[in-house]
Amino acid sequence: MVKLLLAGTGLIGHRHMQHILEHPDLELVGVIDPLITEEKIEGVKTYHSLNEVNKVAEGIILATPTDTHADLTIQSLEMGMHVLVEKPVAATLLEADKMINASEKTGLSILVGHHRRHHPLVNETINILKSGKIGRPVAASLMWLMRKQDEYFDVEWRKGIDGGPIKQNLIHDVDTLRAFFGEIISVVGSGTNIVRNAKRHENGGVVLGFNTGMVATVAFSDATPTPWGFEAGTGESPYIPKTNQSSMFIACTNGGLEFPTLKLWSGASNWNEKPIMEHQNISEAAPLIRQLEHFSDVIRGKAAPIVDAKSARETLAVILQIEQATMPVAKFE
Ligand SMILES: NC(=O)c1ccc[n+]([C@@H]2O[C@H](COP(=O)([O-])OP(=O)(O)OC[C@H]3O[C@@H](n4cnc5c(N)ncnc54)[C@H](O)[C@@H]3O)[C@@H](O)[C@H]2O)c1
Repeated sequence: MVKLLLAGTGLIGHRHMQHILEHPDLELVGVIDPLITEEKIEGVKTYHSLNEVNKVAEGIILATPTDTHADLTIQSLEMGMHVLVEKPVAATLLEADKMINASEKTGLSILVGHHRRHHPLVNETINILKSGKIGRPVAASLMWLMRKQDEYFDVEWRKGIDGGPIKQNLIHDVDTLRAFFGEIISVVGSGTNIVRNAKRHENGGVVLGFNTGMVATVAFSDATPTPWGFEAGTGESPYIPKTNQSSMFIACTNGGLEFPTLKLWSGASNWNEKPIMEHQNISEAAPLIRQLEHFSDVIRGKAAPIVDAKSARETLAVILQIEQATMPVAKFE
């Protein structure tokens, strides 16, 4: 059994907790949250702060607000634990650099919670693109268009920029876009906050240029209840009903691929010919559970982190550029 601690029992921490408790190879040895009132949760000892913990585990999962990630990660590494920290890796690039240094100094790993990398549909998309079956990617169009319930923003840290759809949601898309297409070298965009008028991003569009010459457009909003977005399309989250709709269209030199429905279009050499569509059938799996299993392999020295702090820092750098490019200037003072 791999012994784990969990810090943060909010929206995502609660999901980690249930998955650890149900997993035959993982043991939850403690839960940390300043808001905990019970002495034990499901038989597990509770703490109000990492400073109170005397029984060090092999690994710790940090599902705490983004501005706590750097300090808690460095403290955990120095206590001798490997770390699975939620995304974004940190609030700033400087904080991410300090985390990378601490990992190198202690020789312990940081895995960052870009859990979509563990989704079978993401893995299959990477396989199809790598196979060259439909040629080389030239352009793609992605949508993340969901409406979050208003109460989501009642939590203090979500009221400002950290609670907006770029750091919360698009960050996952940027990580998968990097896995599909390579490094992002240019960002232009435009944004507004016309529905809730809050001091954070809400609606926007960006054009991302990749080092391969490929270009992707992204439309995002957390104020519109459409069926188009990763979680809705895949049914990945227990809280978001599955719509089975594509939310990304990938255009390659010999055809196209819809994601996450994996409709593969090929067979036409130009616009006078009709492409044919094949459906790829992929078995389902819960990426958060797979990510915990990967973390267990990292702890046991069987694998290197699929998304380490250096890779997550690259994604954060792009996210910060998108925040700048789509800043709704008029309403943000
Ligand atoms: N991977 C994903 O899909 C996903 C989804 C949601 C959130 N997140 C990320 O996870 C993090 C948490 O988000 P959330 O929506 O669950 O937040 P949340 O506000 O629902 O929960 C955060 C919890 O952390 C606790 N906490 C605060 N400071 C702490 C500390 N020093 N030690 C221990 N616990 C502490 C809070 O009391 C709260 O219970 C954020 O960085 C967010 O970006 C990731």
